[in-house]
Amino acid sequence: MASPKHFLDLSATTAEDLRSILEDAKTRKQATKAGTADKPLAGKMLAMIFEKPSTRTRVSFDVGMRQLGGETLFLSGTEMQLGRAETIGDTAKVLSRYVDAIMIRTTDHARLLEMAEHATVPVINALTDLTHPCQIMADIMTIEEHRGPVTGKTLAWTGDGNNVLHSLVEGAARFGYRMNMAVPLGSEPDDKILNWARNNGGEIMLCHDADRAVTGADAVITDTWVSMNQEHKARGHNVFQPFQVNAELMKKAKDEALFLHCLPAHRGEEVTDEVIDGAQSVVFDEAENRLHAQKSILAWCLGAI
Ligand code: CP
Ligand code: NVA
Repeated sequence: MASPKHFLDLSATTAEDLRSILEDAKTRKQATKAGTADKPLAGKMLAMIFEKPSTRTRVSFDVGMRQLGGETLFLSGTEMQLGRAETIGDTAKVLSRYVDAIMIRTTDHARLLEMAEHATVPVINALTDLTHPCQIMADIMTIEEHRGPVTGKTLAWTGDGNNVLHSLVEGAARFGYRMNMAVPLGSEPDDKILNWARNNGGEIMLCHDADRAVTGADAVITDTWVSMNQEHKARGHNVFQPFQVNAELMKKAKDEALFLHCLPAHRGEEVTDEVIDGAQSVVFDEAENRLHAQKSILAWCLGAI
């Protein structure tokens, strides 16, 4: 039996496949708005396992699957036997007998990989402590909608070296944009991911100076200073304050630079109201594009594109 088409990480999917998914998402968005979208996943069932909270991911996968003609099951990790120590492997084997695809938001990335190893249906990464690839597909779609091809552009990150940044770094290698990052000393992204990107042609620059990272950028991106399940690594606000995206910092980027944030935002911390509600912010387009990008990820996993 051919192994399922999992969507685990941008590094685990080829640049060609990622581009096909993105182009499909753009077409699918137009068709959805025009009321002419097809329903290639009619009769298919998606299990959605959440071991962490979610608003956007939960709703966009649920609505997206329905727009594709399929159905979903919401499964809270704590209410499953998974939460009482049934193994990920056994859970994967059992769910594979009932559903056509599994989406999981979990803590340790190893849990995602174990699910994929044992599932006989596609598994989709809906965020782990390490990465958030679905988010970056929506981010790139949003940048391209507003500013054209992302290849050759400079994206700047300022803040924590977290899961969202890791997928952005992988995206630099896959989509050909330059990734500038400014993080506090001690909050650096994972070395293995940085090395993977460098070894795969990613142009990346890591520093500890927000002004330097943002200067001349086409887009400025940030996220919470404390990610879910990373509370033990939380550092004082004064450590992160120099990395806040505010009007002053935005002035260092290109005049037409976009502001992105995966949301939820902690207003007044990593971003000021002035920026997130300002003319350069595309955060709600970005949230909307989760829906369309994920429909195309689902369609790709299930052989519909
Ligand atoms: N951006 C994102 O994944 O949001 P949720 O945590 O609400 O799903
Ligand atoms: N880095 C954040 C993203 C939330 C969508 C977290 O993991 O909590």
